[in-house]
Amino acid sequence: MSKCEDGLGFGGIPLRYPAACCGELHSCPFLLRKMLINGIRLIMDIQIIYYSKYGSTKEIAHAIGKKLHTDNISDIMDLNEITGDLVVVGSPVYSEIPYADIIHLLRDEERKLKDKEIAIFVVCMRKGLVKLGDKESGGPVYLRKMEEALGRPPIVSKIFGGRRIMAELDCEDQKRIEAFSKRLGREFNDEDIMSLEEVDEFIQDIKTKMNLEQKLHNQKGCSNKGI
Ligand SMILES: Cc1cc2nc3c(=O)[nH]c(=O)nc-3n(C[C@H](O)[C@H](O)[C@H](O)COP(=O)(O)O)c2cc1C
Repeated sequence: MSKCEDGLGFGGIPLRYPAACCGELHSCPFLLRKMLINGIRLIMDIQIIYYSKYGSTKEIAHAIGKKLHTDNISDIMDLNEITGDLVVVGSPVYSEIPYADIIHLLRDEERKLKDKEIAIFVVCMRKGLVKLGDKESGGPVYLRKMEEALGRPPIVSKIFGGRRIMAELDCEDQKRIEAFSKRLGREFNDEDIMSLEEVDEFIQDIKTKMNLEQKLHNQKGCSNKGI
């Protein structure tokens, strides 16, 4: 059985990420099976990119990172480069739109996301679809904005509930919320609908999708494209 340099693993299946190899380990069918079944982390470099003004999206991004065993997690404001094979992109919603820099990243005019698997999530208070006047609003609409920016289907997408603590908002945002509150004729108080169960669901969706894609790829008899 060959070693890593030529990127060949057990049974001659080319490894997609030979850099992750470490010698004879990959000649062991048991270990290779373990990699395929349990460990998307072992065969993919996972990166998480988010924006968070008040911390709830950051918290969710780090909870996702912990579950996916990656510490390659960056606020988009501090992002150096995009190194992940799977890139998870998360944005909060302010005044009906996901954060502009995240939308810009997803539009990918610089082709930084080319050839990468993308999962997206949005964090908001209005998770369900609602009507605001004659316009639709809510989680599905926000998520669609991110998907449209990406221009291709993400492998997984999810709407997370967020948190809004009125006393933490800066002046501008307090004014925005007050104006919105007047428009709707209802008061806005502190609200926290964050749930770590949603993180578990998201992780499960990613794992299911990745394993499924791997299986389909293997079934097609992946001769030279990797697992
Ligand atoms: C100024 C402002 C505007 C907001 N606008 C919306 C909105 O249009 N729709 C919504 O569902 N949530 C809205 N939210 C709620 C945020 O999406 C929610 O608080 C989120 O958790 C904030 O993420 P962060 O803590 O990472 O900044 C708004 C919050 C603020 C402060």
